[in-house]
Amino acid sequence: MATGTELRLARRLDEVGFSDIVQIRNKVMALRAGGATVHALHGGEPYFETPDAIKYAAISALVENQTHYAPSSGIAPLREALAAKVNRKNKIPTQVEHVIATVGGSQALYAAFQAVLDPGDDALVFSPYWTPIGDLVRGAQARPLLVPTTTARRNGIAATLEQFSTPQTRAIYYNTPQNPSGVVFTRAEAEEVAAFARARNLVVIADEAYEDLVYEGEHFSIASLPGMAERTITCFTFSKTYGMTGWRGGYAVAQEPFMTALRKIVLYSTNGVATPVQYAMLAALETPEAAIHAHLEQYRVRRDLLLEGLRAAGLECETPAGAFYAFPNVEKIHRNSRTAAEILLDQAHIATIPGSVFGAQGEGHLRFGYALPVEAIREAVAALKAFLG
Ligand SMILES: Cc1ncc(COP(=O)(O)O)c(C=O)c1O
Repeated sequence: MATGTELRLARRLDEVGFSDIVQIRNKVMALRAGGATVHALHGGEPYFETPDAIKYAAISALVENQTHYAPSSGIAPLREALAAKVNRKNKIPTQVEHVIATVGGSQALYAAFQAVLDPGDDALVFSPYWTPIGDLVRGAQARPLLVPTTTARRNGIAATLEQFSTPQTRAIYYNTPQNPSGVVFTRAEAEEVAAFARARNLVVIADEAYEDLVYEGEHFSIASLPGMAERTITCFTFSKTYGMTGWRGGYAVAQEPFMTALRKIVLYSTNGVATPVQYAMLAALETPEAAIHAHLEQYRVRRDLLLEGLRAAGLECETPAGAFYAFPNVEKIHRNSRTAAEILLDQAHIATIPGSVFGAQGEGHLRFGYALPVEAIREAVAALKAFLG
């Protein structure tokens, strides 16, 4: 009951949810605390530890007293190395002033949506989509317009984007490789999105968190296309490629006027990334491509093992071309994906994420993460087959 004196929350948080995934994590911990063996396929963390060279770089930075304020947008050598990487690997024309270090890819995305969206604006979001994106858009008091990826790929990307657009549309969230579906957009598809963005004067917020995890096809950065670097904010993270989820290292690439906005948001939210972490990020960038590729092949083994198991258990699943998730249809277990996830967790002790948390287009599916030791995947598959068998 509202009274004049009641303490109340800022209204812009009214439509912002709190991760469902956390609730599943809590249930897994409770089951384990009760002595149960749980097959944990609900997560999204690399199977390997942060390499020692990266850890030692942080330790050296601490010992050398790199413990003071750093420039809020990132130390110069890091930004130079990031600009070089983005030019070389992503083919995005980038100067040092187009790069900002962020606290994970999450802060880059938060800043990007805050920089672009006004209250009442709309943002096109290919769906199923990584859950926090809906909250980031709503947190900017804007509205996510869900564009079914499967329909778009079948009927034509531009025509489908057109169908879901409104006069208030300002931005497109473009994630490739995609979480949760593993879809990797082709270069031709990127060109269609780019042409649509240019024609409609839209900003693209590109999320390339899984750029190094592509099994079929190749990763292609939309900002590398003509006329796109100036209208794209590309968000990257160290979490997935380098096994650095807990370090919270990421970066964004953008031109003006967006970079000034990103700088302000980073300055007033965290005043930059922790200084020793920036040295760890710098060391991570020295990882040879061959080492990154070796992890990709390890993931491919895991993907194939899980896919084979899902299909042997009678679940239909598209082959994910990228990232480290499989997204099978589980209507055989239950039409409602929340119920399906509950049944699998309670009765087979297999933890997954219900597809509906990734948007209406995810309903009828479950997300299985396979960034796990091979043995853990074997055991999960055996449990699944025994349960559905
Ligand atoms: C699609 C996508 N984008 C961005 C991120 C951000 O990762 P982080 O904040 O760890 O850098 C994630 C993490 O799961 C993700 O799945």
